[in-house]
Amino acid sequence: MSLKSKTYGIFCTKGGVGKTTQGANLGAILADMKQRVLLIDADPQQSMSRFFELIESAPYGLSQVYRSASTAGCISNTVIPNLDIILNDDKGSEGKIPNFLRESILHFQHLRHALEQLSEYDYIFIDTQGASGIIQESVIMAADVLLSPIKPQILDSREFIHGTIELVNKFKPKPGFHSITGRPMPPVKVLINLWDRTTTATEVSNHLRCTFDKETDGHVTVLNTVIPTLKAYSEAAGLGIPAHRHEPSREGPTRSALDTLLELVYELEPKLYGIKPEWNA
Ligand SMILES: Nc1ncnc2c1ncn2[C@@H]1O[C@H](COP(=O)(O)OP(=O)(O)O)[C@@H](O)[C@H]1O
Ligand SMILES: [Mg+2]
Repeated sequence: MSLKSKTYGIFCTKGGVGKTTQGANLGAILADMKQRVLLIDADPQQSMSRFFELIESAPYGLSQVYRSASTAGCISNTVIPNLDIILNDDKGSEGKIPNFLRESILHFQHLRHALEQLSEYDYIFIDTQGASGIIQESVIMAADVLLSPIKPQILDSREFIHGTIELVNKFKPKPGFHSITGRPMPPVKVLINLWDRTTTATEVSNHLRCTFDKETDGHVTVLNTVIPTLKAYSEAAGLGIPAHRHEPSREGPTRSALDTLLELVYELEPKLYGIKPEWNA
């Protein structure tokens, strides 16, 4: 049992970049590596809530976590051992959660307080909607690290660089003041997803590395692991199974989902180096 979980907020102002897919798959491979993992669906579109089948559904979901600043009665169990989830029960952008957050600045801390009371998880992954908003800000406050998937495309990356630098600056405390959240902006790790082996993708990736390193004092870094575009990820999602289980190996130059996700885990969490995922087929 770990004392404090490490919380990853999955955040990118764009949709369709693989936040839900890669967040759910990272959670699942870690669970198969015997880590205790909690997924939290903070996207009103509820795609993480539907990603894996449940064996037991809790009476409450995320809106109760915000309301009560506690996860009691809110944690559902997926069919994957070691993998639990807090379901999103608040459909629509004008739902209960944004209204509750607008009532008081104190409510922003509720998610973080709820998660701080948990000691039974090694890792928590919070999925968010591809936009900046009030829920995303409360997730940033609860996160130790932000994981930001991005497609290596020129137009996407310009907007992404601009938005991310703006966000980091917003959270950076002015000299002599506390940051607006009372804690520093968590470090941002950019994950290049849907990489397609073209020159453009390589150039965009290098440009992202260079710009973030120069302009954020190392606060935003681009991970070495890149996730290629591979049918396995969408196929596995369609079947409701983790991508590493669906494609443990493959022929050809592109690495299998298992190899890529394992490389990603070792890069994010070097202390897990050498542990291999295991599951019952
Ligand atoms: N590396 C990948 N290769 C192929 N398809 C992918 C990959 N990553 C994500 N996808 C697919 O792209 C679509 C969008 O992904 P999703 O995770 O829903 O993005 P987001 O949560 O950022 O909106 C989904 O259909 C998903 O299956
Ligand atoms: Mg999503």
